[in-house]
Amino acid sequence: MAARKTVRRKTTSATPAAPTRVGVVGLGMGRHHLNCYKNVPDCVIAGVSDVDTTRLAAAGKEYGLPASALFADAQAMFDSGLLDAVSIATPNFLHHPLTMAALKAGLHVLCEKPLAMDTAQAREMVRTAEKRGLKLGVHFNHRMTPAARAIAQYAHAGDLGEIYHARISWHRRRGIPGGPGSWFFDSKRSGGGCLIDLGVHAMDTVMSILGYPKVLAVNGQTRNVFGKTDKPTSVMDVEDFVTGYIRLEGGATIALEVSWASHHEHPEQVVMAIYGTEGGAVRRTENYVDAPIRIHRREHGNLVDVQLATLPSDTPTVQADFVKSIREDGNPQCSGDHGLAVMQILDGIYESSRTGREVRIKG
Ligand SMILES: NC(=O)c1ccc[n+]([C@@H]2O[C@H](COP(=O)([O-])OP(=O)(O)OC[C@H]3O[C@@H](n4cnc5c(N)ncnc54)[C@H](O)[C@@H]3O)[C@@H](O)[C@H]2O)c1
Repeated sequence: MAARKTVRRKTTSATPAAPTRVGVVGLGMGRHHLNCYKNVPDCVIAGVSDVDTTRLAAAGKEYGLPASALFADAQAMFDSGLLDAVSIATPNFLHHPLTMAALKAGLHVLCEKPLAMDTAQAREMVRTAEKRGLKLGVHFNHRMTPAARAIAQYAHAGDLGEIYHARISWHRRRGIPGGPGSWFFDSKRSGGGCLIDLGVHAMDTVMSILGYPKVLAVNGQTRNVFGKTDKPTSVMDVEDFVTGYIRLEGGATIALEVSWASHHEHPEQVVMAIYGTEGGAVRRTENYVDAPIRIHRREHGNLVDVQLATLPSDTPTVQADFVKSIREDGNPQCSGDHGLAVMQILDGIYESSRTGREVRIKG
């Protein structure tokens, strides 16, 4: 299966002898970024930004930052000269404008998922980073979990043979995120519902296991089943259930099912199954607890099931890998290219759902 070509980019990072100075915009999920950066060697937290001044002050206190490192205005932080790199962890509709502004200010960017609201925005972000010789990463932290890495190890070593199908489902019984009026389920601010929120991780995890083959075509159907009853006082104009079917170069296929709300048997369940000519792999997570990873194959004519007793313990965080890519002038593992490829799949599913047709993916 042909993998997408990875472009090696030039960098303008500070001298490797000095620590990499990072900032974070958006202090909800952004606090997770701060906790991860805190544990990265050769990296210092040099600024934070949030329009919510209560969150801003709390983060300043927790991370021991001076008042001069706290910014209610993200652009002022980008222009301050305090940073080499920044994480963007704001609501989705701000990923594109804030990433573009940070890149234009000469900063490397680690953007939260989804990379953007749509493919056109994502493409502009990737091209701008490329043109300016800056790193653009996406916070695809789910693929970096030990369980996902364990399956990737088998797949990438060729132990599963040629992988011809992957199935991933991520269901919640009742789990539409956000309180009344939240941006999460307002399409103008989120770009979509459970697909762009959870499906984005599901797609990245499977695609990274498959080696990010080129996407040929996408089919899908979105539904809003519980939005009106579960969020009666809010705009809730996005999907809470989605199915997708993706055809890849080389013949492999992916089946996707995601819900924020459904009459599912568990409060939350993720099941990923990888089917190869030499073996299969299954990951099952129920209510955030991983069952042991299982590998199924044939040995000496016998069908065997292997249950992994341990998982990889050397998995870097996305933030550690991003900083490493800056300092060593490499590519972040969770790259802007991957964010763009996933965005094309998501857009394809939305378009297919609207038109009732399979969507061919160009370029
Ligand atoms: N990777 C993951 O596992 C994961 C998990 C949760 C959320 N996320 C992503 O993180 C992002 C944020 O989600 P969240 O749950 O933290 O949302 P949130 O609404 O809790 O937090 C967003 C923060 O951004 C701030 N903000 C808004 N506009 C801003 C601006 N112009 N400048 C500075 N700050 C601004 C808000 O005040 C708020 O504090 C989303 O893109 C979401 O998809 C990722």
